[in-house]
Amino acid sequence: APLLTRNTFGVEATAPLLAEVSDAAALPELLARPEFAGRPTLVIGGGSNLLFAGNPDVPLLALTARGVRIVRDDGERAIVRADAGVAWHWFVMHTLAEGFAGLENLALIPGTVGAAPIQNIGAYGVEVREFIHAVEAFEPATGQVRRLDAQACAFAYRDSVFKHAPDRYVVTAVEFDLPRAPSLKLDYAGIGDALAAKGIANPTPHDVAEAVIAIRRQKLPDPVVLGNAGSFFKNPIVPMAQAEALLSEYPQMPVFRGSDAGTKKLSAAWFIDACGWKGHRDGDAGVAPTHALVLVNHGNATGRQLLDLARRIADSVQTRFGVAIEPEPRVIGAAW
Ligand code: EPU
Repeated sequence: APLLTRNTFGVEATAPLLAEVSDAAALPELLARPEFAGRPTLVIGGGSNLLFAGNPDVPLLALTARGVRIVRDDGERAIVRADAGVAWHWFVMHTLAEGFAGLENLALIPGTVGAAPIQNIGAYGVEVREFIHAVEAFEPATGQVRRLDAQACAFAYRDSVFKHAPDRYVVTAVEFDLPRAPSLKLDYAGIGDALAAKGIANPTPHDVAEAVIAIRRQKLPDPVVLGNAGSFFKNPIVPMAQAEALLSEYPQMPVFRGSDAGTKKLSAAWFIDACGWKGHRDGDAGVAPTHALVLVNHGNATGRQLLDLARRIADSVQTRFGVAIEPEPRVIGAAW
């Protein structure tokens, strides 16, 4: 099966097989068939968080169910359940339109609901884990349908139990716990500016979503126009002492709160920018001129060329700053 239109980098790749499943209840039977049985199955959602550096050698599975329903609603909060195939941005706008708050800062993130918990998507001061009630998944190895509560998902910055065991679960649906009363997170500088520019003093969650959309459109290339997978590297989390040593040498370096006490999160974009990569281009593989963290395909780059560029970028950051940066998307068909 051709994968060119199934990945937002827009690179050529071919899968031995691609099965689309519209009903999660069909998974046990499907995955017991000889083409699937005993092999890892790669689930593909929006194709916005993977890089085909080569052809996958396993069958691909796409879940196409797009149901959304309210499981419980006590008037203050509700449990909203969405199938894995629901488009993430559509879901965000839908929950806002239904009067639920919480997901506004996560507007315009590409991909599907099913992919959201895998890497615990996050932007502008919010991570999806704050609103995940439970994740439903099928576990091919045992044939069991699992239900993981937020604790069992072991969420951390761009991380979860699903990332550690990439082919163990097929996420089939996600339940979100959403409040009706907003508690807006506006601390990210650009949001306040965008709202002020529109003269909005008392923003609604929908206004915040619009501000986030405007910021993302300004900084992040639209994958439909210029192939990319959003941030290509995770922001590195380093011990406090290392952050302090770097800060004394580079006082202008951005530093964010780490996930644990004793750690700090640094800015991969800043390191890459400082190494001079922003706007760089090797043939059709390049770095976005608007954001150093985003690798782009100017047309006919191969996944291998993008991976080679990514490795050179990571090597240069390691050499110059002594900091290891790792890819955020899943790299298929080659080791990082
Ligand atoms: N910066 C540079 N050069 C650049 C871009 C940024 O030096 O070209 C520095 C600036 O100092 C800026 C800092 O990096 O203040 C942070 O930049 P930005 O606010 O754009 O955020 P980020 O850390 O680069 C993360 C997420 C994004 C998310 C934004 C906003 C990761 C890997 N990326 O990027 O998520 O939209 O924060 O919250 O955590 C994605 O995961 O695909 C993604 C786009």
